Amino acid sequence: RTTAVVLAGGTGQRVGLSIPKQLLKIAGKAVIEHTLTIFQNAEDIDDIIVMMAPGFVPDVEKIVVKAQLTKVTRVIEGGATRNETTERAIAALGEGLAENEDRNVLFHDAVRPLLSQRVIKDCVAALDRYQAVDVAIPSADTIIVTRTHGEDGEFITEVPDRSRLRRGQTPQAFKLSTIRKAYRIAAGDPNFQATDDCSVVLKYLPDVPIHVVAGDEYNMKVTQPVDVFLTDKLFQLASTAAPRQAGEAAYRELLSGKTVVVFGG
Ligand code: CTP
Repeated sequence: RTTAVVLAGGTGQRVGLSIPKQLLKIAGKAVIEHTLTIFQNAEDIDDIIVMMAPGFVPDVEKIVVKAQLTKVTRVIEGGATRNETTERAIAALGEGLAENEDRNVLFHDAVRPLLSQRVIKDCVAALDRYQAVDVAIPSADTIIVTRTHGEDGEFITEVPDRSRLRRGQTPQAFKLSTIRKAYRIAAGDPNFQATDDCSVVLKYLPDVPIHVVAGDEYNMKVTQPVDVFLTDKLFQLASTAAPRQAGEAAYRELLSGKTVVVFGG
């Protein structure tokens, strides 16, 4: 059995709207509706749990009814940090489950509404062999490590070999028993700090190999205001030129300026 947990507990400070960015309409639908529809249509996904920003649970419930997202079994309030939201999801998943009963769980950012079915399939398939799976793409940019020296600002301390660097996306997929164990150990660490879930397994269960599945350039996260514009463009390309097959044609159309951007569609 495979459950998708859609993480939507954040408020989107960096995009800076009056509503959480996952409720913003792009290409005619709320961002979170795009994301939930992808999991609704995924053969390998049996059920979906949504972790929503406090105060906005009814907004998601309305979307679930209107879009007939029948796989969504629960909409629950998230926590103060992304990891707290994950912890709450793990607790909810454990309810009604026998101690020796396991299942697959995929954690996905609600604000990555262009996830492909191929990536979901690859994650679920990888869980046949591995207890933890990440999704990542190579980095086109050189990544530098810096240190801040007071008022003089930042200085480079290291330039890691780019060929080994990857940009982590989501989903991150686990056997429920594994991610639960990692978070139980983390709970005893007063210095616990993380921004994703694979790093919790890496730190607290170092013997568990974390397999990496190839992600997708389209699977971008709506983080900054400019990402709203870029996501809108990508939805248009996805609906017109089937860009994954016809990448170059779509690209040329974009450059020619024929594609018209309509916010909120
Ligand atoms: N998230 C969550 N619970 C939190 C914080 C974040 O479920 N307490 C989710 C967000 O809703 C988002 C994903 O984690 O789908 C990625 O986080 P991020 O892009 O950082 O979202 P926000 O925290 O909303 O953005 P910001 O940091 O700009 O406020």
